[in-house]
Amino acid sequence: MNLKGRSFITLKDFTSEEIGGLLDLAADLKAKKKQGITGNSLKGKNIALIFEKPSTRTRCSFTIGCIDEGGHPEYLGEHDIQLGHKESVKDTARVLGRMFDGIEFRGFEHKKVEELAKYAGVPVWNGLTDDFHPTQILADLLTMREHLGELKGLNFVFVGDGRNNMANSLMIGMTKMGVNCVILAPRQLWPEEGLVELCREYGKASGATLKVTDHIDEVKNMDVVYTDVWCSMGEEDKAAERVALLKDYQVNDELMKKVGSDRVIFLHCLPAVKGNEVTEEVFERYADTVFDEAENRMHTIKAVMVATLGEN
Ligand code: CP
Ligand code: NVA
Repeated sequence: MNLKGRSFITLKDFTSEEIGGLLDLAADLKAKKKQGITGNSLKGKNIALIFEKPSTRTRCSFTIGCIDEGGHPEYLGEHDIQLGHKESVKDTARVLGRMFDGIEFRGFEHKKVEELAKYAGVPVWNGLTDDFHPTQILADLLTMREHLGELKGLNFVFVGDGRNNMANSLMIGMTKMGVNCVILAPRQLWPEEGLVELCREYGKASGATLKVTDHIDEVKNMDVVYTDVWCSMGEEDKAAERVALLKDYQVNDELMKKVGSDRVIFLHCLPAVKGNEVTEEVFERYADTVFDEAENRMHTIKAVMVATLGEN
């Protein structure tokens, strides 16, 4: 796998072999870190971390992943730089690209991260936009591999807001990796048909199926039940509307019983709003897995930086 110089904007741009290669690299870096071994692959590299939205996991993962490999991270928050206020994305990209060796961006419009990647001249990594959250999917896939083994043939259901950045990115990641994927959501929150069609094409190549449904009974025999907040960052004003639409789609004991599998795992990208998308009981029962997933953000993000920018 040679990903040197590549940006990481969505998983659409990566083959299943490349995604598998990133997971292998992350597993290797994780095993080394557990033995106290860190690397020098980013020595002398300066990395910009642009955050228009808040973050715990993504920010800390880029920061620690970078420092573990000998690089220097620089946090640029919403009010710290001119981007979006006084300076265009195109100009900001060309300035930062002259100074930094890699740029992470978390923000609202997806086209901003695409524009940064187009003009920066250095790798740009998507740390979440309104439409996609690709680094999260690597952590999810690694956690599934650790807990369930071979990815191909697993059955995965995302329950909740089926048109948010997580549902979009999970559909891409699962169908590329041969994981049968169900998006379980009320019709008003179904994903865009164009993206569903594209993911069905990925599924044809990998052997995965993709179903979009509003029938809760479709959770039967799933290996992974995944959910996310009902209101994503920037949609806080939609809270009442979303609760009304999604209250029957809560991951609770009743839903987990319907799955009817002994080996099912529950995943959540976090942060979680307990009592909305998941009950406290279900969350705590699977807390070890969910926090493995959170930890894996760091190992997988480190792998993305090492693969696209690292020296060895
Ligand atoms: N899952 C995730 O991206 O978490 P943060 O918003 O804390 O980065
Ligand atoms: N859909 C959520 C994901 C958070 C990691 C959001 O965008 O807020």
